Amino acid sequence: MELDGRIALVTGGGSGIGRATVHRLAAEGMAVCVVDRDPVAAGVVADAVGGIAVVADVGVASEVDTAFAECAARLGGPDLAVANAGIAIGVADLADLADADYRRILGPNVDGVVFTARAAIRAMRARGGGVIVATASLAGLMAFAPDPVYALTKHAVVGLVRSIAPGLADDGIAVHAVCPGLTDTAILGPEIREALDAAGFPLMDPAQIAEAVVTAAQAPAEATGSCWVCQPGRPATPYGFRRVPGPRVEGAVGQVPDLSERTDPAGP
Ligand SMILES: NC(=O)c1ccc[n+]([C@@H]2O[C@H](COP(=O)([O-])OP(=O)(O)OC[C@H]3O[C@@H](n4cnc5c(N)ncnc54)[C@H](O)[C@@H]3O)[C@@H](O)[C@H]2O)c1
Repeated sequence: MELDGRIALVTGGGSGIGRATVHRLAAEGMAVCVVDRDPVAAGVVADAVGGIAVVADVGVASEVDTAFAECAARLGGPDLAVANAGIAIGVADLADLADADYRRILGPNVDGVVFTARAAIRAMRARGGGVIVATASLAGLMAFAPDPVYALTKHAVVGLVRSIAPGLADDGIAVHAVCPGLTDTAILGPEIREALDAAGFPLMDPAQIAEAVVTAAQAPAEATGSCWVCQPGRPATPYGFRRVPGPRVEGAVGQVPDLSERTDPAGP
């Protein structure tokens, strides 16, 4: 997609990867709607790039829908929606997981991505196409013992992106995930940041993830459904998923048939 002159909406745009993405997209010539639950952060970032700020909790569907409506009314679009807002909880031992922490992370990391993608699909269908990029994580592609529920949410994002992408191709809508490794943002917290520094662990600059968002947004249509691995010192690379072994039963077909026309609500 040509970015210059188009419109982007970025959730979690007030800080870290979202902020870097807003700056990068604005530098590419896009008008940007900065969505964040933090009104001050959203306002500062939007002002810096001449965009607009919208305050919303992405875990609340009505607030996401209102943010898209405000974007459409004030800027148009969006042509590119970046579902980036997310948090970590850092609970390594599942036995220690408080119900409140579990619900707290599902809001932005799972509900927020679903609600943002849904609103984007509705808006983009009406406009004749667009690109959706969700910020997953390497923790969506591999185990992440320090925060297993975070890993669960990021696997959910990867599963959603890969599952909706093929069905949206005919609408001219491409869907991607970016999967960053550890990146220097506020999500790490001072203690983890210090420990990583002491261990000499290389952190990425958020600008590198913004670059990956641009790469995904400009990828050829047939790359839809890609999950772009972001590692220090490497350009963003689509992850190569292995094929799952098929059935070994005489006469079995290897692929699930098209079930989209069925009317009963049951499923696998
Ligand atoms: N920093 C990393 O190491 C890293 C690695 C992989 C993936 N990620 C992912 O990148 C994304 C951005 O995180 P970051 O590292 O820039 O962290 P960050 O804390 O710097 O930024 C997150 C932003 O999201 C906003 N936000 C949080 N919950 C929200 C909600 N419910 N509604 C609206 N806005 C909300 C925050 O106010 C903040 O501005 C997250 O999805 C995170 O999981 C980060």
